[in-house]
Amino acid sequence: MISRVKGTQDLLDLTLFNFAIDQTRKHLESYNFIEIATPILEPTELFKRSLGLQTDVVSKQMYTLGEKDEICLRPEATASTARAFVENHIQQTPWKVFSWGSMFRHERPQKGRLREFHQINIEAIGAPSIAQDALFIKMLDSLFVQRFKLESYALHINFLGTPDDRKKHKEALLTFLTKHEAKICKTCLERKETNTLRIFDCKNPECQELYKSAPQITDYLSQESSKEWQKLQEQLDILSVTYVVAPSLVRGLDYYNKTVFEFVSHDLGAQSAFCGGGRYDHLIKAIGGKDDEPSIGTAIGLERLLLLLEPIKNQLSLPQMQALSVIIPLETEQNSLALLIVDELHQNNICCDVLLDDSSLKSKMRKTNKMGAQWAIIIGPEEQQQKKAVLKNMVNGKEETIPQTELVKKIK
Ligand code: HAM
Repeated sequence: MISRVKGTQDLLDLTLFNFAIDQTRKHLESYNFIEIATPILEPTELFKRSLGLQTDVVSKQMYTLGEKDEICLRPEATASTARAFVENHIQQTPWKVFSWGSMFRHERPQKGRLREFHQINIEAIGAPSIAQDALFIKMLDSLFVQRFKLESYALHINFLGTPDDRKKHKEALLTFLTKHEAKICKTCLERKETNTLRIFDCKNPECQELYKSAPQITDYLSQESSKEWQKLQEQLDILSVTYVVAPSLVRGLDYYNKTVFEFVSHDLGAQSAFCGGGRYDHLIKAIGGKDDEPSIGTAIGLERLLLLLEPIKNQLSLPQMQALSVIIPLETEQNSLALLIVDELHQNNICCDVLLDDSSLKSKMRKTNKMGAQWAIIIGPEEQQQKKAVLKNMVNGKEETIPQTELVKKIK
């Protein structure tokens, strides 16, 4: 047997998956977002330039191809959306768009962590006001509460300020880390040199204890940044969004500044974030746009959202399956007639299937039952001759013989 690639999965029942996408689509469209799609293959350079060379995604997790690794399977969709904005010369801002699809990261697979996973990616490009962030976060919060009936999650937010604010914070952090070098783990020592802010993601309890007293970015904000940070919290309060300020939330990608946030749920175990995002004011210029286009965006991890929805799916208004009719020709001589009946039922928008194998009636009835059919339509030589059919209600077991011309009316 040839097995699927590690960290990928076969999705054999898409009911909940499609429901999640449909509901999100409806919700976002009501906020005036439009759906787009970008390629799965992108130039590797796009992610190097946007996410940053030192990030885990670019330095360890990329699936690349081409002679010089110049093409890759996209690991996320923000850089792609930004590229599409620049390449297609979009003039009207904010450009409010969403897309969904597979992303690829070479990570160690575990619950909620795959190598091919799906995201719903949402971006508002050219949206400088911090009030936009409050609206964006409220939009997500109401998606999770109203459409998906989620209860046990928390929203973590932090404010990373401007590049200047971060520079000051980084200096203070480096001084702190140098002072405590003897107490920090090997990974943190490496990160100190390469991607300092990421020390806050360390899982080591001793490091975490130490970092409680480390300099926090929000203490190094300029007056203007501080005002924006206050304003954001005020507006979230006005909109009745419950949040937790998480000083160590830095997010793993380099393009963020100012607002960052994550929706987390303990029900997910170690991989607790099912939605994460933030503001990126300098990305558009960094990948070749003429000017900066201050923007905000997020991605929902579909697999993790589905882990949360699965246990409460009975409370969700999942689409009902259409009632199924199964046509059962008793012998192969009735197959042509069965095909004609199928055709007529389909033309009248009736969901139906036909059992064309030459097994016994008993086995065909058993199959019809397993298929969850509402109606069985049985035609043998006698019915064929008399232009009739036996219509059996599979729910209450009642059956009657009726003219074939009355089948549509009866089933409808
Ligand atoms: P991210 O935090 O890397 O952000 O991913 C967003 C979400 O995708 C995560 O919270 C998680 O639910 C899901 N996810 C990430 N990696 C995996 C994985 N290996 N397996 C399963 N699920 C995963 C971004 O991707 C940014 N582009 C979000 C964004 C959009 N920021 C601004 N705009």
